[in-house]
Amino acid sequence: MNLILLGPPGAGKGTQAQRLMAHYGIPQLSTGEMLRAAVAEGSDLGKQAKSIMEAGDLVPDGLMIQLISQRIGREDCANGFILDGFPRTTAQAEALDAMLAERELQLDKVIAISVDEEALIERISGRFSCTDCGTGYHDSFKPPAVEGVCDECGGKNFERRKDDNRETVQARLQTYHQQTAPIIPYYDADGRLARVDGMAEIRAVGDAVLALL
Ligand code: AP5
Ligand code: MG
Repeated sequence: MNLILLGPPGAGKGTQAQRLMAHYGIPQLSTGEMLRAAVAEGSDLGKQAKSIMEAGDLVPDGLMIQLISQRIGREDCANGFILDGFPRTTAQAEALDAMLAERELQLDKVIAISVDEEALIERISGRFSCTDCGTGYHDSFKPPAVEGVCDECGGKNFERRKDDNRETVQARLQTYHQQTAPIIPYYDADGRLARVDGMAEIRAVGDAVLALL
């Protein structure tokens, strides 16, 4: 099963990808996570991406296409993958179609998650994740069962993203509207797109996604 989760910052792409990953046993390919790991490592890619991400802009298409092309060729993608945060431009969407065709793979569904702008900002400002295993949480909507302890790994260290401040979120939303939303018609035109109301509770959104698959 090869899937794309599409949606603005804070729509719940990562949250739903984690549930789908557990359900289907296929990996989540989050370009945002890959870039944050590259920044933390201090690699060449990380050095190029750091200031771009902090400004809420997009990392150049060529770098992103190369990153995903290498990633989907890895063994753990043999039974499928969930793309979270890629493609984000028309050029990325076209390049993805070309790389899938080359590998004789198909895209099963593109799931567009829609959420009101005010709710996006609230979600992003309350978000944090486990430093040890990466599981995502929210101060009000998804707190750990035991305060200060990760549900998944028992870790006690949590972190907030550097680009999750009000100013950068506004820039990320603008980037989404200008460069990413225009790819929705690209997938709608040939019937690959399905829309999900992302305003519902996390579990209900997940059920709606699973019902589509
Ligand atoms: P990326 O990491 O992809 O960030 P994003 O697209 O801005 O999306 P987010 O991760 O902020 O939101 P999400 O949809 O995953 O929401 P989440 O599930 O966490 O990209 C970061 C940066 O990297 C970009 O700005 C760009 O610079 C660069 N980049 C990445 N990919 C690129 C590409 N392809 N090309 C170029 N540049 C690229 O949910 C948010 C919060 O809400 C959580 O706390 C969660 O618990 C909560 N929540 C989720 N669902 C619900 C719900 N239904 N109800 C209530 N709360 C909910
Ligand atoms: Mg995410």
